[in-house]
Amino acid sequence: MANLEGQAALITGAGSGIGRGTAVRLARDGADICIAEIDLDGAEETASMVREFGREAHVVRCNVASIDQVQEAADQCVEQLGRLDIAVANAGIGRGGSVLEMPLKDWQDQVDINLTGVFLTVQAASQRMVAQGEGGRIVCLSSLAALTTGEAFWGYSATKAGVAMLVRGWAQDLGRHGITVNAIGPGVIDTPLAHGLAGDNGGPIRASLEERTPAGRAGAPSDIAGLIAFLVGPDAEFMSGSYIVMDGGLRDAGPLVGTDMSDPANAERMRHVQTSEERNARLQPLIDQR
Ligand SMILES: NC(=O)c1ccc[n+]([C@@H]2O[C@H](COP(=O)([O-])OP(=O)(O)OC[C@H]3O[C@@H](n4cnc5c(N)ncnc54)[C@H](O)[C@@H]3O)[C@@H](O)[C@H]2O)c1
Repeated sequence: MANLEGQAALITGAGSGIGRGTAVRLARDGADICIAEIDLDGAEETASMVREFGREAHVVRCNVASIDQVQEAADQCVEQLGRLDIAVANAGIGRGGSVLEMPLKDWQDQVDINLTGVFLTVQAASQRMVAQGEGGRIVCLSSLAALTTGEAFWGYSATKAGVAMLVRGWAQDLGRHGITVNAIGPGVIDTPLAHGLAGDNGGPIRASLEERTPAGRAGAPSDIAGLIAFLVGPDAEFMSGSYIVMDGGLRDAGPLVGTDMSDPANAERMRHVQTSEERNARLQPLIDQR
């Protein structure tokens, strides 16, 4: 199904997880892909996967918290791929813990990437779409955590709830230019980001979430990529300003995360809510380069 033939997509954070799954899916559907990432190794791996479908892939080093780097990524998308029709504001991080102890830097990184990064990506992409004059499609990654939260997750939830509201305003703002903007609320998706919830250092939290997911499994990046493919494809022309949950039914299956924060081990574990310590040690210096 090559219904995106001739289109170019800018995807942030496509060096891993949902962003990578989306790059591969949109390439399968015919789009060329510009990968805007801080993790260049992951980005190059995704680019190779895209090229296996005979599509063009371009990698640009981009921290979504930097306006200059996001503007440069959008410019490179147009210069290298000739167009910018689709944007997926996917890059995101998780920082958790008790409000009593959260370092300002953790709060700020999360807001800078999950909220400001989405704003900068949508701004840069929509500016090029308007200049192109043929409309466009934008999808922003929110989370099921926009609807629910816990003693460790409140900051992440607040950024994701912000994204769900931003797309409603942007849908009105950009609709007259033929641009649709929607948000997705994934439940637990099997990516490195979610592994920290239990696999590597999160103990039983993720296992409990997966057990409670009525679908009987965690989601795969390809599940979310399929929804994104629908939202950027021809059947979703009339859809804008929506926040769509895709969670295997988890929303009504009990609290998203119940973490006993009085246990110091849990408090430390939740600090980098959703990533392993080793991965965080690799990504944090890249996040700090702006
Ligand atoms: N995995 C889940 O269960 C889940 C659930 C709900 C929402 N989400 C959201 O989906 C999105 C993708 O998550 P994922 O699970 O694929 O995570 P992931 O950690 O596997 O991938 C995120 C990618 O973003 C990149 N990135 C981080 N900070 C960046 C920055 N400042 N600039 C550019 N790139 C940056 C990382 O290098 C990484 O490659 C995130 O916004 C996340 O909050 C994930």
